[in-house]
Amino acid sequence: MTAQRACALSDLVQDEARRVELDGVAIAVVLDSNGEVHAIGDTCTHGDISLADGFVDGETLECWAHGSAFSLRTGKPLNLPAYEPVPVFAVTIDGDDVLIDPAVTLEAN
Ligand code: FES
Repeated sequence: MTAQRACALSDLVQDEARRVELDGVAIAVVLDSNGEVHAIGDTCTHGDISLADGFVDGETLECWAHGSAFSLRTGKPLNLPAYEPVPVFAVTIDGDDVLIDPAVTLEAN
C-alpha cells in the first residue's frame, strides 16, 4: 500500500478536523494552529462517534459526545471515558496534496 491523496491542503481549515475515508479506513485530518497536518483514526474508541465532528484544541481532538481528548501526535486519550488510543497515520504534503497511507500507523510514544 502506498500513500494516497486524502484531500487538498488548501481545503483544510486551521483548528478544524475533516473526515476522509481511504480504503475503508476513516481518518480525521487536522490542520493545527502551527500549520502542521495530523491524521488520526476518526472513530472514538469509547463509542461509534466521528472525532472529526469534535473540537480541535492545540494538539488534541476532543470527542463531542463525552469529552475525551485524543493527542494528535500519539492517538492516546488524555482523559476518560475513552482509554484506548486511536491510530496515528503518517502525513506527507506534496504541493497542495495531503497524502496518507491508511495501512501504515505510527508507533505511539
Ligand atoms: S463516544 Fe467519544 S468520549 Fe464517548
